[in-house]
Amino acid sequence: MARAWVKGAVAAALATAVGAAGVMGAKAALTFNNAVTGEVLNLDDAPPEGKDTEAFKAFVETGKNAYLGNPSCLAKGEQLFLAMCSGCHGQKGEGKLGPGLNDSYWTYPQGATDKGLFELIFGGASGQMGPMYGSMNVDEMLLTMAWVRHLYKDKPDDAGEWMTAELKAAYKPFDGKTPAPKPAADAPESCKTEE
Ligand code: HEC
Repeated sequence: MARAWVKGAVAAALATAVGAAGVMGAKAALTFNNAVTGEVLNLDDAPPEGKDTEAFKAFVETGKNAYLGNPSCLAKGEQLFLAMCSGCHGQKGEGKLGPGLNDSYWTYPQGATDKGLFELIFGGASGQMGPMYGSMNVDEMLLTMAWVRHLYKDKPDDAGEWMTAELKAAYKPFDGKTPAPKPAADAPESCKTEE
């Protein structure tokens, strides 16, 4: 185990030195763990696409999702959620084969933070909840997370750490009817939808 870790660390250092990975840069980044096993997640398991967005670069440093509360990014997040998640979690995240994602209850307490929600999506949980790194890129995961948070319907005070004071002030429970607004012209590139 220790040897494997050292090997990984050397590879990561090399990648950074060569500038091939570029995600982590030289700065300290957060460590992400599998929600069930606690095993460290290897972000290199995901494709390189999406790792160079401003949002993802900030996310690995802070664990905060810059797409949250950006109306321009909701439409893309919705598309991804409907394609990748709703079959098991319901159209509105109300729960189906998988648990509801639109309330304040989490099987895995990690769900109450953005870092933890990412860990659950990237690395999966148990049973049918497989890791998503093979099916979507990391930036798409952040966009999907922004939509999952938008689906929230319970009391803002029960939401958990992800709901910042700013989001609380603007909070309206998801009504399931109002369509996501079209991305504005100055939306981040990865939030733009194809018409
Ligand atoms: C094939 C079905 C399936 C798909 C597709 C799926 N999930 Fe899940 N998901 C599940 C199941 C089943 C669980 C419960 C696993 C457990 O308890 O360990 C789960 C658990 C979760 C949890 C933890 C919930 C909690 O209460 O702690 C999150 C978060 C989650 N899924 C998000 C997503 C997102 C986001 C997507 C799309 C990117 C997705 N899932 C796609 C079936 C699925």
